[in-house]
Amino acid sequence: MASITQSAVWKALAANQAEFDLAEFKATALDAKRVADFSVELPGLHADLSRHLATPETLKLLAKLAETAGLDARRRQLFEGGHVNDTEDRAALHTLLRAAPADVPPALASQAAEVREVFARMRAFCQEMHASRITDVVSIGIGGSHLGPELVVEALTPLKGPKLRTHFLSNVDPMHAARLLPSLDPEHTLVVVISKTFTTQETLANAQAARTWLVQALGEKAVPAHFAAVSAAPDKARAFGIPPERVFAFWDWVGGRYSLWSAVGLPIALAHGFEIFEALLAGAAQMDRHFREAPVERNLPALLALLGIWYANFWQAATRAVVPYRQDLRLLVSYLQQLEMESDGKRVRRDGTPADYATMPVVWGDTGTNGQHAFFQLLHQGTGLVPVDFVAVLEEESGHWRQQAMLLANCYAQAEALFHGRSSAEAEKQSGKALAPHKTFPGGRPSTLITLSRLDARSLGMLLALYEHRTFVQACIWDVNCFDQMGVELGKQLAEGVLKALESGDVTGVQDPATRAAVKRSRYE
Ligand code: F6P
Repeated sequence: MASITQSAVWKALAANQAEFDLAEFKATALDAKRVADFSVELPGLHADLSRHLATPETLKLLAKLAETAGLDARRRQLFEGGHVNDTEDRAALHTLLRAAPADVPPALASQAAEVREVFARMRAFCQEMHASRITDVVSIGIGGSHLGPELVVEALTPLKGPKLRTHFLSNVDPMHAARLLPSLDPEHTLVVVISKTFTTQETLANAQAARTWLVQALGEKAVPAHFAAVSAAPDKARAFGIPPERVFAFWDWVGGRYSLWSAVGLPIALAHGFEIFEALLAGAAQMDRHFREAPVERNLPALLALLGIWYANFWQAATRAVVPYRQDLRLLVSYLQQLEMESDGKRVRRDGTPADYATMPVVWGDTGTNGQHAFFQLLHQGTGLVPVDFVAVLEEESGHWRQQAMLLANCYAQAEALFHGRSSAEAEKQSGKALAPHKTFPGGRPSTLITLSRLDARSLGMLLALYEHRTFVQACIWDVNCFDQMGVELGKQLAEGVLKALESGDVTGVQDPATRAAVKRSRYE
């Protein structure tokens, strides 16, 4: 298939970029009308795209690009259970997990019934745990079986604390378990093992460590009452010794990094109540409806994706920063790193031919205002263009309005400073000729400002679904499969041989001389 770079619209976008007069744009484009025209308002979530380096003509061309790439048909396939995961020949139906009954496509009725059945069991299990002597949950899992649940549990923890304290054990680093487990009382602890495949080395090692810890304290007979599991391979979870009524299934048509809406969200329901998990699903469903129905020019996930393409492919932006101005959203960056980079970090197209264009830029960032005192220097005066996603929340729970106002003021001011900068003439006036180059801010640095009215389950569901669909639209344009992750396999396979060498001291099976030397050093030989 011909590359999208050969299309007339790609060439028109390249010309649009070449003609873009940044100085003129910066000086004249941003007015109240543009702010209104470039804003998208959904219930509880507002996005201001006015500070992007895009004219109305650019947006028209980007919409045309989406049409040329066949976004409509691809999106229909996604929602209707088409095999959008080409390489693994299966559907990616995370949207079905959160669909209201009226939105379930008739052909997917039996899958929807299975989802309802698992959710009913989850609800009953949560009620049982909330009424029991359990006070703490240890959620064991990694990647998609960890990042979403931890982000949501942390983001939604009220000041008075959760219903059950929830701890996450992900890293195979033994120190992670060694610090956590002794701090807990096994009598009052529930261990939830989450793994789509139930073969992931880190998760199984940590599950085994937790089991040993529990058995040492309470004996073997305590295992069934203190363990639960979530997996798309329920037989393997049962083989681990977890009773069938405590194994919650999901399905191969739910991708790992799109799975927090399935039983993978059990830690959320345990920590905060099943109704909070339901509100999260409802928020995501609201974003799904918007993504399905809004025309591309007003479609927030599509617009964010197209602007992502605009910077990655026409402005050569190699990275994008995400800066949530809310400490409770601290884990958003790691969550998005997996969602976006594991999905769209691909070098070949769906048909296996190399992409002759850049795909996913690196996503990075930290909370504001912390990031301001760390990496914002580069955002303002570094040599590369780094578009920024600012995420702010208006309401807060602590009652310290003055500090909340400081937080918001910093967020808004940074976006303004990045866009407008400070001219060399102004810098010279303020600081003299010698320092002027150092005090000049070029400006013209684009950002999105996403504002949530409040941080609750519904708005968080909307926000995460927004980023999921953004990822999907970018994949459509780049023609990559955003639902596989074959790039994680090679290292995992090699690690098996290296582990054998580390354990036995026999390095003959290790090919790479640097690895061999590292193994020898690790055994102090
Ligand atoms: O190594 C990558 C990966 O396969 C992710 O895609 C996945 O979310 C994670 O590992 C954990 O996998 P599992 O849920 O099967 O344990």
